[in-house]
Amino acid sequence: MSERDWIVGQIRERLLFYRSMTELGFERRAVAAAPVEKVEPSVPERAALSRETLVEVRADLGDCTRCVLHEKRTNLVFGVGNPSADLMFIGEAPGFEEDRQGIPFVGPAGQLLTKIISAIDLSRDDVYIANVVKCRPPGNRDPEPEEVEECRSFLDRQVDAIRPKVICALGRVAALNLLRTDEGITRIRGRIYPYRGAKLVPTFHPAYLLRNPEKKRECWQDMKLIRRLLDGQSS
Ligand code: URA
Repeated sequence: MSERDWIVGQIRERLLFYRSMTELGFERRAVAAAPVEKVEPSVPERAALSRETLVEVRADLGDCTRCVLHEKRTNLVFGVGNPSADLMFIGEAPGFEEDRQGIPFVGPAGQLLTKIISAIDLSRDDVYIANVVKCRPPGNRDPEPEEVEECRSFLDRQVDAIRPKVICALGRVAALNLLRTDEGITRIRGRIYPYRGAKLVPTFHPAYLLRNPEKKRECWQDMKLIRRLLDGQSS
């Protein structure tokens, strides 16, 4: 091959390379030569950039042995749903079926929760669902304060990662532990409380509603309030 043919071949190869890069969506320009405009992120942008993701929170939680609940669990139940949901539901603790599947609210109470969610024109994929504690307490007893405390920072980090507009605390145990109050659920339900930048509305636990169907009417009031908050109304 002559020197001329070799040079022509090289140029041809280079042109083909540029063409394939352009087809792949790369711009043919000297990036280093372009003027570099340094734009400082705004405060909310910085907060968003430094925000931890749910994947990072889950990785940090690992195969948790921080409290005794790990001893009898089948699966740790981290949470499920849209990682940037506007609405987050927080229940008490996994039950039998949740422990078996590793997914929150999949038993009978979960089926009612799914109906409650669709009553406000959302699906389970639109919202995020988690619990105050991530492992099933034996015999479905209430979680002990030290078990809630061990899990709490992880739940708060999930809330911070998702940044929901509204949190619905499901039942007495969830509401009391999140709000650190000892008022009964009947007194605190249907009101708005601030929680980590979100509006927290407590309502009855779906398992309680299965036992006390006459309370569904009040739960429906609470869900209508939540729908209004999601729609940008103040109450
Ligand atoms: N009850 C809860 O509080 N959480 C679940 O995940 C299931 C039942």
